[in-house]
Parts: sequence; C-alpha cells; structure tokens
Amino acid sequence: MDIDKIKKGLQTEYMGSKIIYKDTTSSTNDDGKQAGEKGMEEGSIFISEAQTKGRGRMLREWVTAEGEGIALSILLRPEIIPAEAPTITPVLALSVVKTIKKLYDIDAKIKWPNDIFLDGKKLGGILTEMNAGMEGVKYIVIGLGLNIHQTSMPIELEKIATSLQIYNENIYDREQLISEILNNFEKDYEDFKRYGLKHFIEALKIFSNVIGKEVIVISGLELVEGHVLTIDDSGNLILRLEDGEIKRIIYGDISLKYKELLKD
Ligand code: BTN
Repeated sequence: MDIDKIKKGLQTEYMGSKIIYKDTTSSTNDDGKQAGEKGMEEGSIFISEAQTKGRGRMLREWVTAEGEGIALSILLRPEIIPAEAPTITPVLALSVVKTIKKLYDIDAKIKWPNDIFLDGKKLGGILTEMNAGMEGVKYIVIGLGLNIHQTSMPIELEKIATSLQIYNENIYDREQLISEILNNFEKDYEDFKRYGLKHFIEALKIFSNVIGKEVIVISGLELVEGHVLTIDDSGNLILRLEDGEIKRIIYGDISLKYKELLKD
C-alpha cells in the first residue's frame, strides 16, 4: 500500500492528517484504540495490509490478507453522548457507497446498520468501538473492511460474500479509493456533528437494501421476523411483525429471508 499516494489524494483538513501504516497488525481497530488512549488527534488513520485478529460485529472474524482488501480504522473524538456513538456507523457506510458509486458507477447498498452489500452479497463491514465514561465519549474508533481484489471466496462464503474484483474484473486502485472515502467522510462527519444522523436518513433509505424486505433480526437476546417498513429519523429500523405489531429496532443483526435472496 502506497501511503504517500493516499496522502496526495486527500483534500481534507484533518481526516488522514496522520496515517499509521503496518504491513501486518492484529486489528487496525486495536491500533486505533491504543492511539486513542495515548491522546492521538482526531482524524488519525490506521491502515494495515493484513490483520491477524481482524474482527466484526457479534464476535465474528474478519479476514484481511495482503493485497486483497482495505482494512482501515479512523480515530474520532466527537462531543456526543455514548448512546449516539453507534449512529456514526451508517454515516461511514454512506460515505463508502457514495464513493463507490462516484468512482466506479457501481451500486453498492447498505444493509442496516453496518454492512456494505453488492449484488446481494457482503462486500464490506464497519465495526464501531468506543471508550466512554461519565463525562461522555472519550474516543471512537470506526473500522472499515472492504473486499477488493479477491478473485474468489472460500467455498463457505461464496454465496454470501463478494469483492469488487469478483463483481467485475476491473483493476481497482485501493489508494485512490481510500483517499476518496476519507474526503467524503470528513464532509459527512462534519454534517453528522452539526445536524446528527437525521441529516442522512433520506440518503440511507435510498441506499438501503432492506426496506420493503422480509427479514429476521437478532437484537440482543430477541429474535424477530418481519417486514421492514422504513428507517426512522433516529436511524432505527421500523418492522411490521406477522401479527401486525410495529416494532422499532435500535440495534441488531439482520438476515434477509431466503425468499428475498432469491428475488435479487
Ligand atoms: C462486520 O462485518 O461485522 C464488521 C467488519 C469490520 C472489519 C474492519 S477491518 C478494519 C477494522 N479492524 C477490525 O478488526 N475490524 C474492522
């Protein structure tokens, strides 16, 4: 990865003003958290070619092998309450799908709240972690994993995961993609701090791949099935359950029902 090339492509004030690069690390989110503890400034970026202990939500493993993808984490220090911190996740998801559309004219989608989907399969994911105390959020580390150059997926992931290269066989410039994501994200993050998540709801609905779909949601210890009606102004998913009850899901892990996968 050519870090100077990423820097040359940046048109930001502070996003990426420091980029910490490692050939291999355990997890770029861990690098970001260590730097967060040490007081490193907002907008510092942690990138690695390969992660030995990359992780996703729900304790899932996230594999990043050399040359194949993007593993990047961003250190943020917003003045928000801890409960608001997870709402930064869809903001980055939006910056990513907008960038992919602008650079490649590819329609990636957001599977609420943190997955990037392409062609009905997972292209990437976002893991947001924070350190917060009584006085509010100390720092947030938001980590992005994207599959780029994999030419095939392991057999167990073939039906559920994809890469840009599998989608079409173009050559992708990872450095340019990173610079553009950071350029877009700095603007979106500034809007997020000024207006909150509600500023992004209309765009999130446009890029969502779950609205109007039948889904299964695991939310805490609860498992619910229903039809996704919309995303409300606070970023919650609004579901209509089979008995007609309307349910608001604040946080959860969604699976599209099998019949929905067949439609795509
Ligand atoms: C998910 O799909 O649940 C989220 C995946 C997030 C993966 C990224 S890769 C960079 C950063 N470092 C990690 O260990 N995880 C995130």
